[in-house]
Amino acid sequence: MKRLRTQVGIVGAGPAGLTLAHLLDRVGIESVVLEDRSRDYVEHRIRAGVLEHGTVELLRESGVGERMDSEGILHHGISVQFEGERHRIALTDLAGGRSIVIYGQTEVVKDLIGARLERGLPLLFEVDGVSVRGFDGDEPAIAFRHEGEEQELRCDVIAGCDGFHGVCRPAIAPVLRTFEREYPFAWLGILAEAPPSSDELVYAHHERGFALLSLRSPHLSRLYLQCRPDENLDGWPEDRIWDELRTRTALDGWSLNTGPILEQGVTGMRSFVAEPMQHGRLFLAGDAAHIVPPTGAKGLNLAIADVAVLAQVLDRWYRTGDEGGLASYSETCLRRVWRAEHFSYWMTTMLHRISDDPFDLKLQLSQLRWVTTSQAAATSLAENYVGQPFELAS
Ligand code: APR
Ligand code: PHB
Repeated sequence: MKRLRTQVGIVGAGPAGLTLAHLLDRVGIESVVLEDRSRDYVEHRIRAGVLEHGTVELLRESGVGERMDSEGILHHGISVQFEGERHRIALTDLAGGRSIVIYGQTEVVKDLIGARLERGLPLLFEVDGVSVRGFDGDEPAIAFRHEGEEQELRCDVIAGCDGFHGVCRPAIAPVLRTFEREYPFAWLGILAEAPPSSDELVYAHHERGFALLSLRSPHLSRLYLQCRPDENLDGWPEDRIWDELRTRTALDGWSLNTGPILEQGVTGMRSFVAEPMQHGRLFLAGDAAHIVPPTGAKGLNLAIADVAVLAQVLDRWYRTGDEGGLASYSETCLRRVWRAEHFSYWMTTMLHRISDDPFDLKLQLSQLRWVTTSQAAATSLAENYVGQPFELAS
């Protein structure tokens, strides 16, 4: 068996694992990243695309923001549509000058992988049989196979950045308390070669279900429709997708641009939190610890906020030996996590067709009227949407 040694062993090369490795490198802490998929797979997985103000600043200030700054699209507002009316929420005016940037998560991942490989730092793709142990004491280790060879990575700390279906959270399941909500609907998402029909995102409530107009570039639209969790894409030829999008987003004097559909897929909706996000020398970050439904666009941003805290407390620990920061990691992250959980739940239940009960519908319409007419309510939406400033551990 080949034995390796590093300071921080990172499981998963999604946004959480890659950003953590990058931030640690910036402060001189060594890490090894282990990913079970191929580089090609990881770089082509289509995910969300809204970066909060704090995420943008962190990527820029840590030196991986160059392409984001040239290709990302700065947005100062979103629209909410219901009962055939479209109302703009002026995010930047309402949220103290903060804005969002539209830049695909896939692009963030490509930039981080590029930066790591350019520096010649260890990032292993297509590993398998990953298991973690020794984190109860002070000899954590990760066992895995790579290119047919059994290997063991000894480290000071393990970062479980391996997403919702990874191995790190199950490894500490007995000490975790989990909180969960499933939604009886999903999103059918498409990427289409069509110029965006709206300059800003449109979140549409409609009696036939929710629809979202988003974008990736001046030539690419990203669009979503509420559907059943077990929706079969065979029943959705292109014409049906466009008809449904047109119906749910219809507005006098406005029309939907269409074009060839390049990608399509169904994404389930779930809220989930595991507490605490740490046990001994194993720290969970990102989707490994929590999931939000995509309506608030918080998944990627939460993952980055977690590892910003983790990198900071690890840096302090290595420099001073002070364990206080490490001990407060979970509590620090969970404050932000639960705010985003509530916001995502609130946006989801306000905008989707959640039942056939007319009482639910009346409540939704009242909330929508409120967030689009009350400055206080719109400010609260805006503040959550652009995201709280990144919090540092105490
Ligand atoms: N060993 C190694 N890698 C693993 C393992 C394993 N056993 N299990 C999963 N992985 C990898 C996955 O292939 C994936 O690349 O861990 C990575 C986890 O990445 P993400 O799922 O992207 O999670 P995270 O980095 O926390 O980012 C959260 O991604 O899923 C979206 O909507 C979510 O935007 C959010 C963001
Ligand atoms: C996206 O562009 O993919 C997107 C935008 C906003 C969301 C979710 C996804 O709330």
